[in-house]
Amino acid sequence: MNIIEIKNLTKVYQKRYSKKKITALNNVNLEIPKGIIFGLLGPNGAGKTTLIKILLEIAYPTSGQTKLFDSEENRTEMKKFTGYLPENHKYPAYLTGEAVLRIFGQLGGCDYKNIKARVSYVLDLVDMKKWADTKIKKYSKGMMQRLGLAQALMNDPKLIFLDEPTDGIDPIGRSEIREILKNLKSEGKTIFLNSHLLSEVEMISDRAAILNKGELVWDGAVSDLTENSKIVRISTDQNISDSVLQEIQKKYDIKKCSQNCLSIALSEIKDVNYAIDELRKNNINIISVIPEKQSLEEMFISLIKNAETEIK
Ligand SMILES: Nc1ncnc2c1ncn2[C@@H]1O[C@H](COP(=O)(O)OP(=O)(O)O)[C@@H](O)[C@H]1O
Ligand SMILES: [Mg+2]
Repeated sequence: MNIIEIKNLTKVYQKRYSKKKITALNNVNLEIPKGIIFGLLGPNGAGKTTLIKILLEIAYPTSGQTKLFDSEENRTEMKKFTGYLPENHKYPAYLTGEAVLRIFGQLGGCDYKNIKARVSYVLDLVDMKKWADTKIKKYSKGMMQRLGLAQALMNDPKLIFLDEPTDGIDPIGRSEIREILKNLKSEGKTIFLNSHLLSEVEMISDRAAILNKGELVWDGAVSDLTENSKIVRISTDQNISDSVLQEIQKKYDIKKCSQNCLSIALSEIKDVNYAIDELRKNNINIISVIPEKQSLEEMFISLIKNAETEIK
């Protein structure tokens, strides 16, 4: 089942007192299955936040349709099952973390009787219990993000929208947030993550999409990127001489990437074995044989660059 469906979605912003129009989303089509972590990537201004806002009816489309939970029912009803961590969220600085969760939990329709227990549960989940009674003006950026995540989880949502959730968080904090998100996924929740941090999305997402200037330029399984790798690197403990290299190159498409490293474009796995045989015949020891991955970052850069040249 698709938990989110987006059809031919276009959003054009028009400033009230000017004729200038900005196309934030241009004919976007996307389907997101239930129970996955989905990462929406794109440079600043690509339209990521606008997309989340339209799904949550904070902004309205110029044309096209969106559907949550495969349901035609009123979006307000559907929003009861969603959580949202907005980008650059701000809470009143004089409140404590506990008060923020209590107040926003109530605004979000949490059951009044259970609210204390729920606040305590979500604070524990994001490891913020010891800061519960501290005013948030003393919180660091990382603590604010954790609090925002806790707030997004107050109503025990099935679908969670997180807009740049690890913004301003250090690497350890990021890996802790990744763990929390993985646990939420294992509970069957679906997570929609907006991020400009490619490696982050690559590490955690099952599927991803890339937005550039309002257009969806790629969408697919993150594993497809790495599984289809056709290049293998062989590292050796000594320099590979030109004569050995030429011998291997007679048969296979092999390049030297440094003095003691070969890069092989595979048509078949036996290419690697042949190269290893040749190296070993010359008493060269193999240190590692590593399939090269195309990272999401490389693909992102090439897609965005292609789009720029097409526009020119
Ligand atoms: N309320 C608004 N009014 C006018 N333009 C807007 C508004 N919100 C966003 N935009 C513009 O729409 C484009 C997409 O913005 P946004 O969705 O925030 O992108 P992202 O989240 O990927 O950085 C940008 O050019 C931005 O300036
Ligand atoms: Mg944004």
